[in-house]
Amino acid sequence: MSINIAIDGPAGAGKSTIAKAAAKALGYIYVDTGALYRSVAYYVMLRGKDVNNRSAVEILLQDIVPELKYIDGEQHVFVNGEDVTGKIRTPEVSMATSVVSAIPRVRDFLFNLQQKIAVENNVIMDGRDIGTVVLPNADLKIFLTASPEARAERRYKELSQKGNAPAYEQVLSDIIKRDREDSTRKIAPLKQAEDAVLLDTTDMTLEEATETIIGMIAKVRK
Ligand code: DC
Repeated sequence: MSINIAIDGPAGAGKSTIAKAAAKALGYIYVDTGALYRSVAYYVMLRGKDVNNRSAVEILLQDIVPELKYIDGEQHVFVNGEDVTGKIRTPEVSMATSVVSAIPRVRDFLFNLQQKIAVENNVIMDGRDIGTVVLPNADLKIFLTASPEARAERRYKELSQKGNAPAYEQVLSDIIKRDREDSTRKIAPLKQAEDAVLLDTTDMTLEEATETIIGMIAKVRK
């Protein structure tokens, strides 16, 4: 039986950095489910459709083949054979993803793919509904959070390093808007599972948070 670790939480809480580092240290596969939702939004935009047009998005799902591949230990996301790993990280794709991820058929479409990966591998899977919907029987569920300001600061630094950062205030207001959309939507809202451990990383470095999580996982493996 594979070991499944679920990490959920809002944008910018450090989920992907922490989950990736912990997975590397433990030899697990890291699955960034947000990248799958992003790849759907990217494809809708590529085809020139409006993400707010629900039926247009639903029709396009028939044409989308998302895949996760691991190249030198790094997750790459492919859509219909194209490696879109870098292209799905723009602020425009982030906002569009928040819209498409609220569509029930989009969630159903990605559900089986996520479950299949978890059945076949030891995984650390991060997202918004992993502990509540995708892996309700996960061996360990962690809800990772931090204040909106701390998250905006981290995201701002990350975007600055890539050379395309909007103003800090814009990053903060995007985070607050996405939090609201992700946690108030009717389907699979961002919510802490009842049996999840809460970890607030506002006053922690990402290294400290990673060590804490590796320690928690080590306990469930015993
Ligand atoms: O983690 P991220 O920032 O890459 O997520 C992008 C968007 O996808 C975010 O608005 C929430 C959504 N998402 C989701 O609804 N369910 C998931 N399991 C992962 C992400």
